[in-house]
Formats: sequence, C-alpha cells, structure tokens
Amino acid sequence: MSAIMNEARELMKLWGGFRASRVLLTANNYRVFDHLTKAKSAKAVSQKLKTDIRATEILLDALTGIGLLKKHKNIYSNAPLASKFLVSGKPYYQGDILRHADALWQNWSGLDEVMKTGKPYRKAHDHKSFILGMHNLALLKAKDIIKQIGLKGAKTALDLGGGPGTYSIEMARHGVKVSLFDRPETIEIAMDVTGKAGMKNMDFITGDFLYDDVGKGYDLIFASQILHSCSEKEIIHLFKKCRKALNKKGRLVIQEFYLEKDRTHPVSSALFSVNMLINTPGGRSYSPDEMKKWLLMAGFKNAEEKIMNDTVLVQAVKL
Ligand SMILES: C[S@@+](CC[C@H](N)C(=O)[O-])C[C@H]1O[C@@H](n2cnc3c(N)ncnc32)[C@H](O)[C@@H]1O
Repeated sequence: MSAIMNEARELMKLWGGFRASRVLLTANNYRVFDHLTKAKSAKAVSQKLKTDIRATEILLDALTGIGLLKKHKNIYSNAPLASKFLVSGKPYYQGDILRHADALWQNWSGLDEVMKTGKPYRKAHDHKSFILGMHNLALLKAKDIIKQIGLKGAKTALDLGGGPGTYSIEMARHGVKVSLFDRPETIEIAMDVTGKAGMKNMDFITGDFLYDDVGKGYDLIFASQILHSCSEKEIIHLFKKCRKALNKKGRLVIQEFYLEKDRTHPVSSALFSVNMLINTPGGRSYSPDEMKKWLLMAGFKNAEEKIMNDTVLVQAVKL
C-alpha cells in the first residue's frame, strides 16, 4: 500500500472510531452478550431479541470483527472480553457504564453547538446507569486505590460525592467508620449497593456539597472523581469546606484522571475534558499542579501527588 494511504489510515481510524463504539453500545442495549453465553445462530438471536434478521446478522458479524464475538460455521458466541465484562451478573460487569456512555453519545452529538455557546448540551442522562456505571469502574480498582491511600490512623472517613459507595465499602472493610455524602437520588442507589455488600454500619448524608454542611470530625476525606464537574472557584470553596470538616492532622485525598501540565495528555484525560465541557457549565480535567496550588490556597499543607497511569491521587494535610 502507498505511503499516503498508510498516513490516511491514521486519520480514518480517528474519524471512524465511532462505528465500533456504536455497534458495541447497541449490542449492550439489546443485551446481545447475555444471549451469547451459549452459541447461537443469527436467526436464533434475532428471535430472542425480536430484531430484524438482516440487521442482527450484520451487527453480529461486526461484533465478531471487533473481537467481541467468535463465529464458527455461522454460529456466534461471546469472545473472552465480552464473556468477562459484558455479561450481566459477572463480577466485573461493565454494562452499566456502557449504558451511561450511550446517554453521553447523545450529548456529545451537540459538540458543534457547544463550540458556539460554551454551554453544556446535556439532553440525555440516566442517573441509575451513571451511578451503577461508577460502581462498574470502581470495582476494577477500589482495592488498589485504598491500598495506595493507606488507612493507617483513619478511624473516621467521609466519602464525598461517594456515588454508589464502592470506595466506602472498601474503607469500611478495613474497619473505618464511613459517612457517604451525595445527592438524594444517588444515596438511594448507594444504600442498595452497600446493603447488598453487607455493610450495615455506614452513615449516609444527603445534600449538595457546594452548598450544604458535610459534617465534621473526619480523619480522612476521600474526594474521588468529583472535582472535574466543578469550576476552579467551586473547587477552592470545597477545599476550604473540607479543611474545616477534618480533624487536626486529617487528610484530604483526591482521585482524578491524571492530566499533564499542558493539558493534552494522557489523551483519555484531554478527551474527558471535552466530556465535562459538554455536560457541565464549568468542569474539566485538572492537572496535579493546579489541584496542589488550590489545596495550599485553602490552607492545606504538604500537598503531594501519586500518578498511576491515567489516574492521580493528590493528598494534603490539615496541620
Ligand atoms: C463521577 S461520580 C464519582 C463517584 C465516586 N466517588 C467514585 O469515584 O466512584 C461523582 C459523584 O458526585 C456526586 N456529586 C456531583 N456533584 C455533587 C454535588 N454538588 N453535591 C453532592 N454530590 C455531588 C454525584 O452524584 C456522583 O455520585
């Protein structure tokens, strides 16, 4: 193939990426992978799903092409990746976050308009998929993250914007008395998730962390993936509030997507900024340097960071 064709291929990969993504999201919406734990023909799948046979066959072939299914003599079944992550009830199931991505897809379609207005284009949102999606993602790393944070000396903790409570559960398993703060509609889901995990001794506080009291007397405040939905002004306000809520020598630990100083890499974090541009009035990804600067402005000391691939933990102490 000519050199120019190879160069153009790079571009095609970028603009054509949406096709594989759409095929996967639609398959997840129809729960195709739940139906292919046992091998089936396209006709059998279409009968189960009540879908058009031609459409089903074309979708299943594309899913096979992108590596999510296997096809043998016109019979399809899940490939290992789908089997592990896309079948309901599996320990590392990711179907909820895919359903959340499906809502985001609709919002991302408004990016042209956002470029003019600078305002969010948040037409679609399914709160349950969003919060359970957070659980899907956090289950992949909660044990490691809590180990990295270290809970020595922490008797009480606040999981601020704790979502489904995945990190709360992990902290509580280490004997920490955890309070989870979030909006009422999220707390409802968190109670269900933590209850199913057998957590009985957890406190739940409902409110808006920008406007409401978050309690006090905490040795540790964990703020995981909440800053990116806030503006710089809101973050400094929130840091001051956290400092007041901490005990002396208490720690605020932040988890965010890692973003380099020039804000272009890792690519996933630069793209996540676009997500926050589309979905919030003032949010984006932030670099550790920005977060550390604001922590010091809020009166914290000893601000430091730990980078783990595309994730960063930033922590600071109230002395
Ligand atoms: C991206 S999720 C992160 C959930 C969890 N901390 C985690 O890392 O898996 C953000 C959470 O913050 C909550 N949240 C966002 N803004 C909030 C606000 N102003 N007040 C209270 N909760 C808020 C959302 O309801 C959601 O549960």
